[in-house]
Amino acid sequence: METQAYSTWLEIDLRAIRNNIKEIKKMTQTEVMAVIKANGYGHGVLEVARAATEAGATWCGVARIEEALNLRSAGIQSAVMVLGYTPPIMISEAIRNDIHVAIYDEAMAKDYAAYANIVGGRLKAHLKVETGMGRLGMFPEKVPGFLEQHFHHPNIEIDGIFTHLARADELHSGGVESQLSIFNKVLAQCRKAGICPGFVHAANSAAVMNYPEAYYDMVRPGITILGLDPSPTTPLPSAFTPALTWKARLTSVRTLPPGHGVSYGSVYVTSEEERIGVIPVGYGDGYRREMGQQVLVRGKRVNVIGRVCMDQCMLQLDDVPDAIPGDEVVLLGAQGDEKITVNEIAERWGTLNYEVVCGLADRLPRLYER
Ligand SMILES: Cc1ncc(COP(=O)(O)O)c(C=O)c1O
Repeated sequence: METQAYSTWLEIDLRAIRNNIKEIKKMTQTEVMAVIKANGYGHGVLEVARAATEAGATWCGVARIEEALNLRSAGIQSAVMVLGYTPPIMISEAIRNDIHVAIYDEAMAKDYAAYANIVGGRLKAHLKVETGMGRLGMFPEKVPGFLEQHFHHPNIEIDGIFTHLARADELHSGGVESQLSIFNKVLAQCRKAGICPGFVHAANSAAVMNYPEAYYDMVRPGITILGLDPSPTTPLPSAFTPALTWKARLTSVRTLPPGHGVSYGSVYVTSEEERIGVIPVGYGDGYRREMGQQVLVRGKRVNVIGRVCMDQCMLQLDDVPDAIPGDEVVLLGAQGDEKITVNEIAERWGTLNYEVVCGLADRLPRLYER
């Protein structure tokens, strides 16, 4: 991989993404909607979409219509679905670009139908059912009546029905069982009335790992595609591979005298002569302004010291006397026998691995291993 032109960059292994999709397909034996919203969880939406669809994902799921249109402009030909809200004025674009939207209430369906009627098209939609997430979804008791009215609508084609699980990373909370029992009851009512949409789906990554009964016709994994754990309590099997490595180059190595402040506020002061390195990574890249972080230099863990700046931060290099400017530094990933995982960073930041990768700034070059 040619990296000479960059001072910090992300390496994304598309072979890992293809492998992970295949593992999911092997486990579930269903269709796969690759959930690639938020720039493919920071990994770069178009490359992730291409790798996922090459490996057998037949759908791409995003949060917003702009994300869906971006996929279409780039030539992604799989089915594409907006899982969140779509403004009614964008319905003509959805129809023109063969994009599925989510519908979750009657007023919305009416608005969408009116816009579809103007362009003389039929909008493809999946109906979202509220079963316990408390976010978006039609209350279950309204679903049969709604479908009765809309199943043969001239301007809306409802060809899927779905729900979202709130606690799929927990094994014994009863949350998933309760949601699925509500969902199954609705499905049974609709089937009995002959108005059940074709595609039924519910499972996010955690449910793919923990709840085969949530697979139905299609699963909707996001984080596992990237080889990252759905939660600390739901680690991935070893067949899954993380796709992401974050690297930087040492841009300076100097010995500072005792009593020298390092970075804003001089919250770190050298206690003796210390070798201090600089890497061109900061909170402007999504590397948080937290104390107590570590990176890898020449296969060893070293401390990030002083405050993280917008574009740079400093390293204590006394344990790696041979480190020189130009050396590769790993912020996330493996070097030698050492490894820093997204989970480790998330724990240090008091957040989830999801937030770490979604926060990777656009300005970070993304280089792909094919
Ligand atoms: C509706 C829906 N389905 C699927 C997913 C994928 O979730 P995960 O990344 O946990 O697999 C998300 C992501 O938040 C979502 O909002």
